[in-house]
Amino acid sequence: MKRLIYLALSLTLLFACTSCVGKAAALPAEAVPTAAQPPELALITPPIDEEGEPQDGEALPQIPSGQPPELALITPPIEEPEEPYVRTIDPAKPMVALTYDDGPHETCSDLILDVLEEHHAVATFFEVGRNVARYPQVLVREQALGCEIASHSNAHRDLSKLKKSALLADLDAADQAFIDAVGFAPTMVRPPYGAVNKTVKYASERAMVTWSVDTLDWKSRDAQTIVDYVQSLGDLDGQVVLMHSLYESTAEATAVLVPWLQEQGYQLVTVSELMACYYGELPEANTLYGYSYFHQPRTDAPLPPPAAQGAEQE
Ligand code: NI
Repeated sequence: MKRLIYLALSLTLLFACTSCVGKAAALPAEAVPTAAQPPELALITPPIDEEGEPQDGEALPQIPSGQPPELALITPPIEEPEEPYVRTIDPAKPMVALTYDDGPHETCSDLILDVLEEHHAVATFFEVGRNVARYPQVLVREQALGCEIASHSNAHRDLSKLKKSALLADLDAADQAFIDAVGFAPTMVRPPYGAVNKTVKYASERAMVTWSVDTLDWKSRDAQTIVDYVQSLGDLDGQVVLMHSLYESTAEATAVLVPWLQEQGYQLVTVSELMACYYGELPEANTLYGYSYFHQPRTDAPLPPPAAQGAEQE
């Protein structure tokens, strides 16, 4: 009989323990969120009543003391607004004008402008009218960065081989493309190939501007060759450097030359700024400004830098 009682007691205890284990095992299963119900982030603040107690009775996740909330990591960093850069020109200090022909180009123009923007530098872009019509947004950026926009004709033909009427028609067509893009027509023209005759020089109704340093970037298509050449020239004060907007190699060379020129003490200016501040003149229509012009000595009577292009229309 005793054995029967022990057996009954043992069975009772065994069932009781099994149900205990079952309950204990079931509890954490309920507490673990399912995949469809992600756990609430520990940093979600519960609604607080006037007594400062949570309004509902549920236990809230505890944030360990001494461990800063991770909320700060989620908050986007607040960037302080950058002070607008104000470019000034000292007429007594060395200056050089970088120029880029044949653009705007779909991608390379922006590569060059990226470099200029990064270094707070400017250049002059002699753009082809028919390219301007395709990529007018490049000119908008050039103007916004304080670069100078100039004409390189409409169709990049040898202007010295055109009759005067055809010459003027080409330059007028280019002007219209510039007006459509940025609202003004440039006063300066660089004749394609540097080819000029008397009509181009003295009867185009525009200022003709060539260059004094030819990098031959179109020929080498090699950044190091361009850089080596410019760095070999010695004094570049007052010079106008010819490059082209069409090549990645030229953009790569620009990325080296711009900071290098600035380290050498050169101010990077537009052609109009160079003429005003270094040569004491503004470009005039029916005049050619070329190699010999940009090899004159610095003026004793610099003019102030010309107003930004298109400013008079605002
Ligand atoms: Ni050209």
